Amino acid sequence: MLSIPTHRALPCAPRLVGPLPGPRARALIERDEAVTSPSYTRGYPLVVERGEGCMLQDVDGNIFLDMTAGIAVTSTGHAHPEVVRVIQEQAARLLHMSGTDFYYAPMVDLAECLAERAPFPENPDGARARVFFSNSGAESIEGALKLARYYTGRTQVVAFLGAFHGRTYGAMSLTGSKAIQRKHFGPLVPGVTHIPYGTHASLDYLESKLFPAVLPPEEVAAIIVEPIQGEGGYIVPEDGFLARIRDICDRHGILMVVDEVQAGMGRTGRLFAVEHWGVLPDVVTLAKGIASGLPLGAILARPHLMTWPPGSHATTFGGNPVACAAASKTLQLLEAGLIDNAYQMGLGLQAGLTQLAGRFNRVSPPRGKGLMVAIDLLDAAGNLDPQLRDRVVDAAFYRGLLLLGCGKAAIRFCPPLVIDNDQIQVALDILTGLCTDLT
Ligand SMILES: Cc1ncc(COP(=O)(O)O)c(C=O)c1O
Repeated sequence: MLSIPTHRALPCAPRLVGPLPGPRARALIERDEAVTSPSYTRGYPLVVERGEGCMLQDVDGNIFLDMTAGIAVTSTGHAHPEVVRVIQEQAARLLHMSGTDFYYAPMVDLAECLAERAPFPENPDGARARVFFSNSGAESIEGALKLARYYTGRTQVVAFLGAFHGRTYGAMSLTGSKAIQRKHFGPLVPGVTHIPYGTHASLDYLESKLFPAVLPPEEVAAIIVEPIQGEGGYIVPEDGFLARIRDICDRHGILMVVDEVQAGMGRTGRLFAVEHWGVLPDVVTLAKGIASGLPLGAILARPHLMTWPPGSHATTFGGNPVACAAASKTLQLLEAGLIDNAYQMGLGLQAGLTQLAGRFNRVSPPRGKGLMVAIDLLDAAGNLDPQLRDRVVDAAFYRGLLLLGCGKAAIRFCPPLVIDNDQIQVALDILTGLCTDLT
């Protein structure tokens, strides 16, 4: 297939050459611990040297199978040769000029591609979306929040418990994930109301209790929602949940902002996860997988919403030409087969995890879409067991499998979208071995 490189220098399965962490890894971690912020959350001692597809090599020559994609980022696989080529070519031509003050083609090319694909209604008068480029997910969310307040002239925002939107002040104020992310950082941005995620009961509460009593809908600028909750545990909402948010927004002149930072860019088997439910939002935020690993984010908005005037919102680095070139190539590769691959491989992964759950009562059935899949680890009574989850994630590393947790006791599977059947089977075999030993 065009989009999955066939030449591979690294093996396709884990290969550990010595006890972990090796001497080079230990030395680098020691240096890191002396100079970097203690706020980072490294779970296991992985010191990466290079990557290719779904495989990573550490500084001691150990080979790992990566089911994390660097937190759902390297959508086309680590160092996809075509992405690397366009990055190199663009870097040699122009590294930076700032799209805020000047024009260059890679930014317009990408904006056109995104606007053509935006999950918005057709616009007979021109482009289907306007695009603002940022550098990260949090920055995309900040901009979307500002845009919603600016356009509606309203101050209040509804967000969801369990949501993660980033760590800058606006994004942190919308985030409803873990108390540690807020503790001692207040005061936060005012005007945010959190309600439970994913259920009709929660939207009943919003409409029948909050709107009439404490949150006049005429003061709500936006409802900001992840189509599948990411850091919160890869939670798929109830059917009709997103459509009902659309309806509430329509009835009250509220903007529906869909945060596709983690679920977007093909990961769920559709370019945008919201497409699974056929809902057309007003604003979409993107980052993570958009540029295969280069820092880039984007806000897509229905064209009539971007009324903010010159100078009202901008950023020096957003829309960097190298990142934009990488993103255009990423989109091309996604559409040339990787979105389909995410869908197909996701089915295989979920089938394998369903079997695992059938064999081990400490493992929940899987949930998710495409290659955005999670299982929960459970105690003997069937309750969520965060300690067991941490032990499984840790032990997987020592067998060459890279996993990440999310939610309270979930393991998420968000590999590069180039993963193949053999690699999925390797991951399932390692997990089966771990479940046999640990549960
Ligand atoms: C849904 C969602 N939105 C926003 C963010 C923030 O992105 P960033 O870490 O690039 O600021 C994340 C990060 O995990 C995310 O998952």
